[in-house]
Amino acid sequence: MRTQVVIIGSGPAGLLLGQLLTNCGIDNIILERASREHVLSRIRAGVLEEGTVGMLDEAGVGARMHREGLPHDGFDIAFDGRRHRIDLHRLTGGKRVMVYGQTEVTQDLMEKRAQTGARSVYQAENVKPHDFDGESPFVTYEKDGTTHRIDCDFIAGCDGFHGVSRKSVPESSIDLYERIYPFGWLGIIAEVPPAGHELIYANHPRGFALCSMRSTHRSRYYVQVPTGEKVDDWTDERFWDELRARLPSASAEQVTTGPSIEKSIAPLRSFVAEPMRFGRLFLAGDAAHIVPPTGAKGLNLAASDIRYLFDGLREYYEEKSAAGIDAYSGRALARVWKAERFSWWMTNTLHKFPDQGAFGQKIQHAELDYLFQSEAALTMLAENYVGLPY
Ligand code: APR
Ligand code: PHB
Repeated sequence: MRTQVVIIGSGPAGLLLGQLLTNCGIDNIILERASREHVLSRIRAGVLEEGTVGMLDEAGVGARMHREGLPHDGFDIAFDGRRHRIDLHRLTGGKRVMVYGQTEVTQDLMEKRAQTGARSVYQAENVKPHDFDGESPFVTYEKDGTTHRIDCDFIAGCDGFHGVSRKSVPESSIDLYERIYPFGWLGIIAEVPPAGHELIYANHPRGFALCSMRSTHRSRYYVQVPTGEKVDDWTDERFWDELRARLPSASAEQVTTGPSIEKSIAPLRSFVAEPMRFGRLFLAGDAAHIVPPTGAKGLNLAASDIRYLFDGLREYYEEKSAAGIDAYSGRALARVWKAERFSWWMTNTLHKFPDQGAFGQKIQHAELDYLFQSEAALTMLAENYVGLPY
């Protein structure tokens, strides 16, 4: 079998790249190790930058997002018992974010791909990229006991942090940068109205909390928990009590409790692999970088990677120029590292660190005190939150 681009991974990065390639007639196959149902069962963040919204529109999958998504002009930071609104729209000259769950993005992309008839293989086992340092790469995988080979021009490793693509690169050819945080996020989803019409990020002596949402009747909440915490140790009641304890009292009273329909703990890490290209293998999305969810950048970085990679591949096929794919890694990493910095800053500013000490607490307090007194600091926060230019 042969195609122009093999995409490993059917998450947002792989599906978005696949749709853009299909729309301009570049043949591609997606190989995904999980089932469709498993991919769609994942609960992830839900704040889209305008660049991501624009890419979903360009891919032809924006209709439901515009119907059901929630445009947000700002968000609050709760600190010292008070809430401070970050007016994104004013501070960025009219930009905003779209609150729309990643699960919905993935579903919209999957449905569009099925409509186009583009090839995807789910439950593809033992997917392996081969000879990507040469001119004739290929990918093998096993399905129903048979080993298959797909010859191609390029391989897009969109297989996430735990995928095979990055791990197929010789250690001597790749540099890894990582910071693991000493806490995780315990998150729940409940069919209850949100605590407010915008998100609330809370810095509290008991730890970080976040009030988010998926719609006007479905809420998403998080509390910071120590590393090693077990989700089974958290009843719904204990969660709601801890969340409200970390919010200003007026906000806590706005929290509608109810049974959780999803409850899980996610670890927090910052991670970057450099470069993001190895001959005819490109890494995109979580395969190349991870951010703590504090800045809501994970999905949005996957989108900007795909912007650069798709433009480069289209230029290669349509204009017979390799300039775009040669520039991919440098362009993507320049934006990745700025988002890593912002996500690291948001995480350090809003969370309680076990080894913070009295000095660390005073610095964190001064950081937030300065933020709310400085138009320049608020503008920095706002322009990073809505997304820096591509
Ligand atoms: N072979 C085939 N598929 C694989 C393999 C493999 N060896 N390893 C992983 N995959 C699949 C996973 O099952 C998953 O469906 O690759 C896909 C990667 O998707 P994501 O992890 O969602 O990564 P990405 O598409 O880059 O999207 C990034 O997703 O995880 C969130 O927070 C993250 O918001 C960010 C977004
Ligand atoms: C979410 O709604 O899941 C969410 C929102 C904002 C974040 C992280 C997660 O920073």
